[in-house]
Amino acid sequence: MSKSSLSKLDAPKNITNREKVLNADDFIVSKTDTKGKIIYCNEIFAQMSGYPPADLIGANHNLIRHPEMPRITYKLLWDMVQKKDEFFGFVKNLCADGGYYWVLAYITADLDTNGNIISYTSVRRKANASAIEQILPIYKKLLEIERSGGVEASHKFLYDFLEEHNLGYREFVFNLQLGAKI
Ligand SMILES: Cc1cc2nc3c(=O)[nH]c(=O)nc-3n(C[C@H](O)[C@H](O)[C@H](O)COP(=O)(O)O)c2cc1C
Repeated sequence: MSKSSLSKLDAPKNITNREKVLNADDFIVSKTDTKGKIIYCNEIFAQMSGYPPADLIGANHNLIRHPEMPRITYKLLWDMVQKKDEFFGFVKNLCADGGYYWVLAYITADLDTNGNIISYTSVRRKANASAIEQILPIYKKLLEIERSGGVEASHKFLYDFLEEHNLGYREFVFNLQLGAKI
């Protein structure tokens, strides 16, 4: 365990347009405690985020939260995993140098033999370029809505959008990853 884990204060303030692209055969893996503190990450996680692996242990996962991500994504994530549902979603993450990378994230609860949640695990793969292209304006709109109406308003917008397209949230994510045009 490192002597000092990173905190949100260590996140870069200069956000840039430098994109890091994950290899198609790479998996970024991390585990958190029940509060979202990192308890494990693989080498690719450290490489992509640009922090020394040891300093990531104990850091809150929001260290790599990108300011252009709408809050609703994290609300859905936590609501689902706390109910022991699996979460899938497109996430833009912040690198230590102010750059970013896109992933399709899968997050699930880890249970003990009594079914209690003891930790969470996330596995991420490269997001499809056409999915990113389509999700970008939607996230931009959600962020804008959140600035004036909060996360309730962005939740409503997202679910109205899904209803209009006759899609469930998960189906929407999978279709995008498979290259569908929504
Ligand atoms: C297993 C797991 C993995 C997570 N991975 C990420 C991630 O890659 N990027 C991210 O921004 N948040 C991730 N989160 C969500 C963060 O815990 C946090 O809710 C989010 O960054 C928003 O933080 P904030 O509300 O403090 O701004 C993850 C949560 C869990 C449980």
